[in-house]
Amino acid sequence: MATEQTDAAASNGKSGKDKKETLSVTDNRTGESYEMEITDGTVKAMDFRQIKVSEEDFGLMTYDPAFTNTASCRSEITYIDGDAGILEHRGIPIEQLCEKSTYLEVAYLLIFGELPTTKQLERWTYDITHHTFVHEDMKQFESGFRYDAHPMGMLLACVGALSTFYPGSKEILDPEERYMAAIRMIAKMPTLAAFSYRHSRGLPYVYPDNDLNYTENFLSMMFKMTEVKYDPDPRLARALDVLFILHADHEQNCSTSAVRGVGSSQVDPYSSVAAGIAALYGPLHGGANEAVLRMLRRIKKVENIPDFLEGVKKQEERLMGFGHRVYRNYDPRARIIHKHVEEVLEATGDNPLLEIAVELEKRALDDEYFTSRKLYPNVDFYSGLIYEALRIPASMFTVIFAIPRTAGWIAQWMEMSDDPEQKIARPRQIYTGAREADYVPLADRSGPEKILYEQARRPKLQQRGA
Ligand code: SDX
Repeated sequence: MATEQTDAAASNGKSGKDKKETLSVTDNRTGESYEMEITDGTVKAMDFRQIKVSEEDFGLMTYDPAFTNTASCRSEITYIDGDAGILEHRGIPIEQLCEKSTYLEVAYLLIFGELPTTKQLERWTYDITHHTFVHEDMKQFESGFRYDAHPMGMLLACVGALSTFYPGSKEILDPEERYMAAIRMIAKMPTLAAFSYRHSRGLPYVYPDNDLNYTENFLSMMFKMTEVKYDPDPRLARALDVLFILHADHEQNCSTSAVRGVGSSQVDPYSSVAAGIAALYGPLHGGANEAVLRMLRRIKKVENIPDFLEGVKKQEERLMGFGHRVYRNYDPRARIIHKHVEEVLEATGDNPLLEIAVELEKRALDDEYFTSRKLYPNVDFYSGLIYEALRIPASMFTVIFAIPRTAGWIAQWMEMSDDPEQKIARPRQIYTGAREADYVPLADRSGPEKILYEQARRPKLQQRGA
């Protein structure tokens, strides 16, 4: 595709074909100029290290807290165009996958890079279906939690504990061990999730039922009571399967970056995925869907929306389920989920919170405060309404996010492990603390008697030059 001539090239008469894909920088401290390759819209951070003021100078680093403008890897798994609201897995648009595929098929696509043949899908489905049981000792492990333990805390611990049942998974380059780790985690995540729910309700665990498909089996393990066989509503099971597809992967989000970072130490995949669960637990990430429901309940009725939005503008509140680091437009997943909310509520009965959510979205998208900050609904804004319609409690919402994201985490972990450019993640820092201080003997120390907790919080750095 021809690219627009930049003003610089046009001004010095260079034709498009003579333009070099390089960046020229001049260090005004020394007057030295440097040229760096531009590849795939990036320059290598290491190319800045050559810029020094003297031989013994360490050289320049780049500074990017929260990695807002730093590519950490090359990946072929998920493509997002945040401005156009595009999401593709291995090049296939999410809209087509939601309409035509299933979660297990999408999991295969993410991990192996192509859609499975009939035989491959049969084998993949058989293997996952026949690894849904967890070791009986895991039940003891789960029973050790308090009755009111948050299910995400339980899932985090249980997935980490799974690594102790499969020590062979430490052979991270062994194809068979990798395949089994993928199968086991995708298969057992719903079982562990459902067990944590049953534990929190003081109910007996329901074992997997191999006659049911992936989402039907999850609903059975969650809700089966005294009936001989759980009879899932196919409309609800399908809606949950679409939600699983929508949550399967999302390129280098916080939890995937945690999986890649921890996995770069060559620890086993269970421990790496446990790190992803810990990151997803946070309210700014996977915990947002639970926070959206609590927010809608706090708003209570449509008439309270203007006051609530005023609180958001005063930064006393956050509009949970809105905003995204990458999407500066409507999250395509939110659009698909919104469509399914209406279908699910037809099957399960109306939810007054939907009316508040729809009106809240309308008011926010009519308000320059939100549109100027590119704050649009994200995947978490409507998903909780479907989970609630499925009688899944808010404390389980983030667990429901973790189940399908397991396939994405595994796919990304494998890609990282095979990437020759990757090695153990170990960022640098800008040191701002004390230097060459002397130890003060206990007897010579003075100060207040009590511990000043606020001292433990680093004061927000004053904006330089503010
Ligand atoms: C997920 O990365 C992924 O792909 C994640 C995810 C995935 O599939 O893995 O898509 C899943 O995590 C979705 C996001 C769910 N989180 C929420 O809904 C929580 C509410 N949203 C945010 O807290 C926030 O929007 C983030 C965390 C999602 C993104 O934050 P950024 O990119 O760091 O943006 P920012 O915090 O720097 O905000 C920019 C401005 C700020 O205002 P100013 O300081 O410029 O005045 O927008 C404001 C923020 O205060 N802002 C919000 C807001 N989100 C950002 N103000 C009110 N409500 C919000 N939700």
